[in-house]
Amino acid sequence: MHHFRYAGQNLHCESVDLAEVARLYGTPTYVYSATTIEDNYTRIAGSMKGLDVRVCYAVKANSNLAVLRHLGNLGSSFEFASAGEMRRVLAAGAGVRESVFAGVGKTETEIRLALEAGIFAFHVESEPELARINHVAGKLGVKASISIRVNPDVDAHTHAKITTGTSANKFGIPLKHASAAYEAASKYPNITIKGIQSHIGSQITEVGPFEETLEKLGPLALELKERYGITYISIGGGIGVVYKDALASGPYSWWETLPEAKRPLTPEVYGATLAPALSGLGLKVLLEPGRSMVANAGVLLSRVEYLKRGQGKNFLIVDAAMNDLVRPAMYDSFHEIVPLRRDTTRRALVADIVGPICESTDCFAKDRQIQEVGEGEYLALMSAGAYGHVMASRYNTRPIPAEVLVKGSAFELVTARETFEEQISNEKIPAFLK
Ligand code: LLP
Repeated sequence: MHHFRYAGQNLHCESVDLAEVARLYGTPTYVYSATTIEDNYTRIAGSMKGLDVRVCYAVKANSNLAVLRHLGNLGSSFEFASAGEMRRVLAAGAGVRESVFAGVGKTETEIRLALEAGIFAFHVESEPELARINHVAGKLGVKASISIRVNPDVDAHTHAKITTGTSANKFGIPLKHASAAYEAASKYPNITIKGIQSHIGSQITEVGPFEETLEKLGPLALELKERYGITYISIGGGIGVVYKDALASGPYSWWETLPEAKRPLTPEVYGATLAPALSGLGLKVLLEPGRSMVANAGVLLSRVEYLKRGQGKNFLIVDAAMNDLVRPAMYDSFHEIVPLRRDTTRRALVADIVGPICESTDCFAKDRQIQEVGEGEYLALMSAGAYGHVMASRYNTRPIPAEVLVKGSAFELVTARETFEEQISNEKIPAFLK
C-alpha cells in the first residue's frame, strides 16, 4: 500500500498537494513518501515470523541521503554495490557495521575502504576476489568476513536484463563449484567465513523461483554450517512490485479480487512461503530488498510542454525524459501516468507520452489513454521510487532532477536540481586548443 491519493481533484502524497511541490521546485522532480517507505520496511522486516531477520536495504534502488537516513532510523542495515554507496550510507549518518558489500568487480581501494569502515561482510563473487580480499585484509592487519554468492542456476521468470541467477549471468560462483570455493576461502589466513548468499534477479512476481533457490542452497548451507560454523544466509532481494494500476493498488487494489495463486507476490506471501525452509537451517536470515522498499513510494513529476497532433497519432511531450527515468527505454517497463489534477469532465486522449530527447526510445508510454491535458499541466509517473533517480544521466545536457521527501504534511527538497555550472564544472579546454 502506498500514500498517493486524490484528495478532491488533486493528487496528494500523504497530505501534500503534489501540484504545490511542482510549482515550488519545478519539474522534473522526484517525490518520495516517507510513510510508504516505513510501511514497506515494516512489512518486509516482519514477513518471516519466528526467524532472526535482518533487512539490508539494497542502496542501488534509491541512494538519496534522506531515504538512507530514514531507513537507518527505522533499523535497516544496507547492501551496497560500491564503496560510493557505502560512503553515502555513512554520509547519511547511518551505520555500516551490520551491512554487506556485493558486486562482481570490487577494487582494492573499495575493499580497503570497506574494511576500514568495519562492514559486516563481503559477498564474494569469484575466486580471484577471495584472493584480493585476503591480500588487502593482510596489508591492513585485519580479518575480512565473507560469504560466497552462490549462483543456483534458477530462472527467475523476469525480464532478461534483470535476471542474475542463471549460469548465463556474470554473478556469483556456480553451485557445483561453491564447496571448493569455500574450501579455498578457509585456507586464507585473513578471511573468516560467515555465511552464504544468493540473489537471482529483480522484479520477481512469483515465489516459486525463491523456493527453488532455497531447495538448491539448503543442503550446502547446512554443510557449511557444520564445516565452518556459518551464521547466516542471505537470500538477496528481488521481490516484485505492482506497476500496472499502481494508483489503485491501495488497500483495495484490483488484484486482491484474484485467486491467491494468481496475485502478484507480496512480502507476506514471500515471507510465509519461505520461512519454513529457512527455519530448518537454524541460521540468521538477511534480506536485501531494494525495489519493494521504495518503488511505490516515489513518483516523478513532469510538466506537459506540448500536445502534438501527428498523423493518426498524438504525442504528449513532457519535460521529463529518458535521462531522468530510463526504465521504459531500457527495459520496456510500464509506469502508470496520471494527471496531478483529475477532471472527470474532460475527454480521454490516446497518445504516446514522450520526452524531449533526440532518440525514439525517449518514450514513457505508447498509445496510452489519459485524461486530456494541455501545456503547463502536470503529470505524475507512478512507482518511480526505485531505479529512477539513481539511474538518471545528463544526456542532452539535461540536469540531474531534484528530489523531495514528504512526511505527513511536511516536505523538503532533499536534492536540489543540478545547475548548468555544476554540470560543466569538471570539464576544461586543454591548453593545446587555446
Ligand atoms: N541484492 C543484490 C546483490 C542485487 O544485485 C540487487 C539488485 C538487489 C539485492 C536488490 O534487488 P531488488 O529487491 O531491487 O529487486 N535497474 C533494474 C533493476 C536492477 C537490479 C539489480 N540488482 C530495474 O530498474 O528494474
